Amino acid sequence: MSAADLPPSPVTWEDGAPRSRLHGDVYFSRDNGLAESRAVFLNGCDLPDAWAGRRRFTVGEVGFGTGLNIAALLEAWGRTRPPGAHLSVFTVEAFPLTADEAARALAAWPELASVARLMTARWPGRARGFHRIDLPELAAVVDVAVMEAADGLSAWDGAADAWFLDGFSPTVDPHIWRQEVIDLVARRSAEGARAATYTVAGSVRRALAAAGFAVAKAPGHGRKRQRLQARLEREVAGPARGRSDPRMAIIGAGVAGASLRRAFATLGVEAVVFDAEGPGAGASGAPAALMAPRLDAGLAAPAALFAQAARTAARLYESIPGAVIARGALQLEAGPKDASRFSAIARSDLFEPGEMSPIGAPEASARVGEAAPPGLAMASAMVLDPGAVLGVWLGPATQSVARARVAAVERAGEGPSAPWRLLGEDGAVLAEADVVCIAAAMGTGDLVQGLGMTPVRGQASFADAAHPITAALFGAYAIPTRQGVLFGATHDRGDRSLEPRPADRRRNLEAVGAALPELARALGGASLADWCAVRATTGDYLPLAGQVAGRSGLWVLTGLGSRGFCLAPLLAEHLASTIVGSPSPLPHALAALVDPGRFAARAARKGRPRPEQPS
Ligand SMILES: Cc1cc2nc3c(=O)[nH]c(=O)nc-3n(C[C@H](O)[C@H](O)[C@H](O)COP(=O)(O)OP(=O)(O)OC[C@H]3O[C@@H](n4cnc5c(N)ncnc54)[C@H](O)[C@@H]3O)c2cc1C
Ligand SMILES: C[S@@+](CC[C@H](N)C(=O)[O-])C[C@H]1O[C@@H](n2cnc3c(N)ncnc32)[C@H](O)[C@@H]1O
Repeated sequence: MSAADLPPSPVTWEDGAPRSRLHGDVYFSRDNGLAESRAVFLNGCDLPDAWAGRRRFTVGEVGFGTGLNIAALLEAWGRTRPPGAHLSVFTVEAFPLTADEAARALAAWPELASVARLMTARWPGRARGFHRIDLPELAAVVDVAVMEAADGLSAWDGAADAWFLDGFSPTVDPHIWRQEVIDLVARRSAEGARAATYTVAGSVRRALAAAGFAVAKAPGHGRKRQRLQARLEREVAGPARGRSDPRMAIIGAGVAGASLRRAFATLGVEAVVFDAEGPGAGASGAPAALMAPRLDAGLAAPAALFAQAARTAARLYESIPGAVIARGALQLEAGPKDASRFSAIARSDLFEPGEMSPIGAPEASARVGEAAPPGLAMASAMVLDPGAVLGVWLGPATQSVARARVAAVERAGEGPSAPWRLLGEDGAVLAEADVVCIAAAMGTGDLVQGLGMTPVRGQASFADAAHPITAALFGAYAIPTRQGVLFGATHDRGDRSLEPRPADRRRNLEAVGAALPELARALGGASLADWCAVRATTGDYLPLAGQVAGRSGLWVLTGLGSRGFCLAPLLAEHLASTIVGSPSPLPHALAALVDPGRFAARAARKGRPRPEQPS
């Protein structure tokens, strides 16, 4: 992508300080922005005192900008955080800066250098949606909603203990200070939340007071005479907070279970993992796996889910040594509608500029090494070594994964809040846990009835002889493995057999032959092997990720279909955060899309009898 295709920068520079091209205002005080951040926002929210003794603390911000406030916050958190505590930050930004622009702005303060380096190295892109900056070094995460303030606040499911209200001056940008936005801030607040801002404009004071904050003026910083600090006075009827430190059990050691274990560990919660046959024994044990989003031309909520999931997955896999076998993939045109579908996807703001690009037949042919139709190049797709991913996220298998088939999960006592008990095949108690996450693919349906899953058997074939190709999709796929090429795969609904079938290998060769005949000819003459597994799919081809309706403490992450390596890391973060009472990285609408109770809820809305109840 050329510089001309990029959206214009929202900033101009004056004596090394950024100013908004759109609003004409400065991002922070020209006197000393860091001192102002500390005085207005940290002191205004009583930080760091407010987090003393807290296990989890959440800060929200309106107007991420250069990240200066958040860098000042993280620097203070690094010095003063309670032992074992975790910080979640949520911030919203409609006109994102690039990492280089933020680094340039933050370079003015040497005391922020190490935090600024961490943040700018993981800086969010411009795609509309939630972006997560992981900061394990500081036991913190920053979720940046790249969208309008009101949209971001509506989509976020957290409850902040402190708010930094940092829009441009209400005289130049009244839109971001309107009552609707301030009401959302109040609705996304924890009991007694504090809010701080540099402006004492009457409209802002009135909006805060109307939303339930007690507002006070305080001595200002630098040239500003006064600033505002506020405290939420009304009671908060938020969702019940999860246990901060639950005893956790995970059933299943595929990519779903491994992603869960990782997500809990980053929140400081250790989980016990059980698997009937060991890590990667199921569908996650292929010689190679493609991580790519499902391409929905409608670009509605499912497309947003896959785009965010792919972004999360790519970021996390990138940090695992040896996990990435190859980068990029090519979706070849297979029908007359594909050209317009691909160009709609490439133009969509759900992806980074240049992440998806339509390419013509000559370039597609050059990439796959034989005559090919035009296609869509997916720059952020990856081919992964599943063993490397599972190895790092699960830890050494013999120590971290208990080898046992869980035959039943039942309450260990009376009442809806009793802990859970995992029973083995002989009826013996394997473990007791406050929270159980079942990530056992089709095995999940054996433990929780009524989830409505269908098995889809798949056989892929592979050759170890080297065929250096680009990962290509054409209905079927052909992707590089460490030694050769993996191709296929078959889709047979209702079939749970794991026996390789010669006929299915022929089907795989035919599928490759229809799109890439030269590759098929080379594969036909090579020594081939097959790999079979069963996908877990659902009625709407979207995953099941959430608590089982009516069964508190029992959660599922399954139904990942053909996209487990794309979906699992984000959905695991969603489950883990929600369970421990931290804000989820998943916007509301996307969480609803994957809620396991959605089928029953839809049936109830249509006045139909509910499907079979979970038992
Ligand atoms: C041929 C084929 C090719 C594929 N290619 C890709 C690809 O390229 N990219 C991609 O993203 N996806 C691909 N998929 C889909 C992908 O494999 C799945 O989406 C993903 O692996 C599902 O992960 P999981 O952790 O949910 O399930 P699994 O990996 O199947 O793990 C479930 C685990 O639960 C254990 N278990 C089950 N029941 C119990 C029980 N009662 N007690 C204890 N343990 C239990 C099993 O032993 C198993 O280890 C492919 C699938 C197939 C079949
Ligand atoms: C004063 S600056 C924030 C400075 C920032 N906190 C920092 O530390 O650099 C205001 C920010 O709000 C953003 N903004 C303005 N209007 C917005 C809107 N309607 N929704 C979301 N963000 C908006 C601007 O792009 C800008 O980054």
